[in-house]
Amino acid sequence: MIQAPKPSRRTSAFLVGTLGVLCFAALGCSRIPGRPGPGPEVVRPEQVVDFSTLYKENCAACHGVTGKDGAALALNNPVYVAIAGEDNIHRVIAGGVDGKLMPAFAKSAGGMLTDQQVAILAHGIVQTWGKPGVLAGQTPPPYADAEAGDAARGQQAFTASCAKCHGANGEGSQNGKYKQGSIVDPAYLALISDQGLRSIILAGLPDRHMPDWRGGSEHPLLTGQQTTDIVAWLALHRTDNPGQPYAETNTTAGSVTGAAK
Ligand code: HEC
Ligand code: HEC
Repeated sequence: MIQAPKPSRRTSAFLVGTLGVLCFAALGCSRIPGRPGPGPEVVRPEQVVDFSTLYKENCAACHGVTGKDGAALALNNPVYVAIAGEDNIHRVIAGGVDGKLMPAFAKSAGGMLTDQQVAILAHGIVQTWGKPGVLAGQTPPPYADAEAGDAARGQQAFTASCAKCHGANGEGSQNGKYKQGSIVDPAYLALISDQGLRSIILAGLPDRHMPDWRGGSEHPLLTGQQTTDIVAWLALHRTDNPGQPYAETNTTAGSVTGAAK
C-alpha cells in the first residue's frame, strides 16, 4: 500500500495558523468562536413554536392580524372553529386549497413549516378562537358535503334564505340595511372554492352581520342538503375565463357536486 506523504510539522503548524487567522477575520475578530454574541440569538424559522408568532408571520396578511377583517375567511369565528374542527383546519393549513390563494404550509407539501408548526397553528386557532358550547347543543350540518348538490333546488333555497340580503339573483343589493357586492360574479367565484363558500354559509361572518346556518332572525335553519344545493347554484356561475367580457360561457355547469374547484 502506498501511503501519502505525511505533511511535515512545519506545514501543519502553518496551516493551523492560517486557518486560525482566517476564522478570526471571518468573525470580525471581536468574538471568540463558540461564545454567544451580545444580542439575542436569532431563532431559526423552523424553531419558532409560538402560535402568535407563527400566525403573525404566515397567516395574518390574508386572515387578518386578529383573525378577522382580512381578505380571506375570518378564523376568529367560534362557530367556524366548532364546525370545521381541528382536524380539518390542520389539513387545510398543511395542504392548502388547490388552485386558490390559500398556500400549502407543510414542508411535505412544498411549504415552509414543519409538521409540529402546522399542528401548533391548528391547535392554537382552536384554543384562541374556539368557544366551547358556542353551538348551544345544536348539531350543524357537516363541514364538508357528502351529497351532490342540486342547483335548481339551490336557487329556491337561495331565494328563501339569502336573497333578502344578497339580491334576488345574488347580484348584490344596494338598498336597505345591508350593502353587498355580487356573490355570483365569476371574478369573485374564481377566488373561492366550493368549500370556502360552504364554510361561509355554515359559519356566517359575525363581524359583518352575515348569519350562520341557523339564520338567527334572518332566515330559517339550513340543512346540510340545502347548503350543498345553494353552493351548487352559486357554482353554476363559475366561468373558465373570469374577468373576460365573454363571461357567459360556462363549461363547469352541470358537473358541480360541491367538490373543491
Ligand atoms: C342578514 C343578511 C344576510 C343574509 C340573510 C345572508 N347574508 Fe351572506 N353576507 C351578508 C353580509 C353583510 C356579508 C358581507 C358582505 C361584505 O362584506 O361585502 C355577506 C357575505 C356573504 C358571502 C361572502 C362574500 C365575500 O365577500 O366573501 C357569501 C358567499 C354569502 N354571504 C352567501 C350567503 C348565502 C348563500 C346566504 C343564504 C344562505 C346568505 N349569504 C345569507 C349578509 C347576509
Ligand atoms: C395568500 C393568502 C393566504 C395566506 C397567507 C393564508 N391563507 Fe388561509 N386561506 C386563504 C384563502 C383565500 C382561503 C379560502 C380558500 C377557499 O376558497 O377555500 C383560505 C382558507 C383557509 C382555511 C380554510 C377555511 C375553510 O373553508 O374551512 C383555513 C383553516 C386557513 N385558511 C388557515 C390559514 C392559516 C392558519 C394560515 C397561516 C399558516 C393561512 N391560512 C394563510 C388565503 C390565505
